[in-house]
Amino acid sequence: MQEEAKNIVGYTDRLSVSAGDHQAFMLSTETPGTCQVELVELICGDTRAKGAGFQERRIESSLTASLEVAHQPIHGGSYGVAAVNAGVTTVCLCFLPTTAKQGTVAQVGPLTIRTGENGVCLHIDSEAMLTLPCKLNRWHWLGVTVDGDVLKGRITSDTAGPAERAETTELSLKLGGSIVLEAESVFLGTSWVDDKTSHVFNGKVERPWLSSETFDLSDAEILSEDLDRIKDAKGLIAAWDFSQQVAGDTGVDIGPSGSHVTLFNCPTRAVKGRYWDGTSNNVNEVPVQYGAVYFHDDDLTDANWVPTTSWQVPDDLPSAVYALKVTQHNSQDYIPFFVRPAPHHRRSRIAYLAPTATYLAYANQRLGIEESILSDGKIRNVNDAYLATHKEVGLSLYEHHSDGSGVHYSSYLRPVLNLKPEGTMWAFNADTNITAWLRHLDEPFDVITDEDLHREGMDLIEDYNVIITGTHPEYYSTEMLDAIADFLANSGRLMYMGGNGFYWRIAHHPDKPAIIEVRRAEDGTRAWMAEPGEYFHSFTDEYGGMWRRQGRPPNLLVGIGFAAQGFDGGTYYRLKPGARDKRVSFIFEDTSGDEVIGDYGSIEGGAASQEIDRWDSELGSPSHAIVLASSENHQPGMLRVVEELHMSTPFMQMQGAQVRADMTFFEAPSGGAVFSTGSIGYAGALAHNGYDNDICKITSNVLRRFIDDTPFEYPG
Ligand SMILES: [Fe+2]
Repeated sequence: MQEEAKNIVGYTDRLSVSAGDHQAFMLSTETPGTCQVELVELICGDTRAKGAGFQERRIESSLTASLEVAHQPIHGGSYGVAAVNAGVTTVCLCFLPTTAKQGTVAQVGPLTIRTGENGVCLHIDSEAMLTLPCKLNRWHWLGVTVDGDVLKGRITSDTAGPAERAETTELSLKLGGSIVLEAESVFLGTSWVDDKTSHVFNGKVERPWLSSETFDLSDAEILSEDLDRIKDAKGLIAAWDFSQQVAGDTGVDIGPSGSHVTLFNCPTRAVKGRYWDGTSNNVNEVPVQYGAVYFHDDDLTDANWVPTTSWQVPDDLPSAVYALKVTQHNSQDYIPFFVRPAPHHRRSRIAYLAPTATYLAYANQRLGIEESILSDGKIRNVNDAYLATHKEVGLSLYEHHSDGSGVHYSSYLRPVLNLKPEGTMWAFNADTNITAWLRHLDEPFDVITDEDLHREGMDLIEDYNVIITGTHPEYYSTEMLDAIADFLANSGRLMYMGGNGFYWRIAHHPDKPAIIEVRRAEDGTRAWMAEPGEYFHSFTDEYGGMWRRQGRPPNLLVGIGFAAQGFDGGTYYRLKPGARDKRVSFIFEDTSGDEVIGDYGSIEGGAASQEIDRWDSELGSPSHAIVLASSENHQPGMLRVVEELHMSTPFMQMQGAQVRADMTFFEAPSGGAVFSTGSIGYAGALAHNGYDNDICKITSNVLRRFIDDTPFEYPG
């Protein structure tokens, strides 16, 4: 169907399901009314003239229905809420604003503390009372107290360095009568109006505390320096310490009533607070220096829509890639999900490991539709157009928040416009080239996801002969990487079907599998840089960054590692002398014998394209690994990764011999083996000429031998 514009979108609460699981689908349309939904197996999402061709298969299911679909808005932005039910007289907190836009630092009953261009304004019942000076990107301590019928405010601005002077301002205002700030709830990082957020704050908040007593604010400021003294403050109602339990969605109340803050949409945790002094960069060593919570007006980890329809995954549904297909007039949406084999069902010998962590990292990334290295800024389809005009669906891990800071968390609990078929050939849609190839071969395969691998580890994969990756398995948690390493150590065979794989370490939310975190620490080809001192994940305490900088370069696992990226056209591979080695003769059976292979394909016109990996002994590529073929003659835009360029010089080599994709094979001591393609674009060549080509032949030969139980013999 030719869509004119995207009118209807949706998401699922579970990207990976198996028999018996309850799964919900949340839908929203711009024009509320009847929509048709049905279940399809998604085989290939490539709609382009030179691609494998769009393929879906309708499946009869309890999901097939006509449904009334409403419009469901998204209220983005992170914030915190605590129930206090108290009469408040004093409010103290530290804050650091990162934009001049009006934003509410805290709302305590009728009191709203709001930053803006003119400073920080204290409102009572939405009437502006006192305005105190504050500066962008500086920490401030703020105290507010009611003394009979007088409202007092005191603010101290910290300095950025020795060239600035710290400033304290204290102001007071006589009110019409004496008041107490009766507060059922406290909101941090937002106002709460008509049951939703308003004026979401961009910036950090630390150590907010409330008392029922009036304070001399200079005393309160001194007291605020020490969490133990805050705990003993007279009349303490609540005091929140965000240096505790940074992995979850709770801000711990160290006061008498345990009124913990619940955080929504994942404000960033494990970030430097007001008391960070640079003596340690490790949140685990000095947690008290990481007591801030960082709110953003565009954080979104749960759109929180009401389910439109749901089902229980039936026992007889084969493992595969499916989608809920939703149609309203000439608008449609696909909500893909992955069905794992039912427990206790016989498994296939092949597991296709859908790189869902990578889908999450790229979820709703707009680099392709805004002018960037990836694109000339073209809107290419209705999904792009929707992303360009619906900022509320949130950001990817490749973008910056509205205040310029990097996006650390991503989730699939929101419409994800590039986790769909029919779009550009990247991530999910590019990976359908692999499922289409497997269907073409008529080889039964199971589908598993990164989320499952993270949760279940080796238990999930030990029974398979072969694991096949997607085109871009870039984001790996420790558990995922360990599981793949264990698999290879236990006679497993791995087909690494892409490029830039096993590159960044990620962390999963402790109890919400839909959410991942990245810290782009130290180095790497990265859309933003982690702040100094913020290299540890909040979800796991683990040091973030490239696996290469943590002693586990991908070369150790799959023989090759990220070498270069370029988006101005693909190229071919040329067979290397290693291709004639007897150890790999099975790979080249019935191939054409041509030295040049893969000078075709639906991704950039060549099998070696986009992001490419090379064999490199210095990075730990096994010495017995055989490079079967290497790419050459890349376009001018295919440039070496920045982590290999140590200083700027006039002789800097951005291209050269190190820029190449190495198709590689090696045996593992366990009887297992690895085949690596080294290019994201590789899978786009499989279907060329009706699957009658050397790339397809080579890959299919590898798969058929990898299925075979006969152990590979370790050479020498
Ligand atoms: Fe990548």
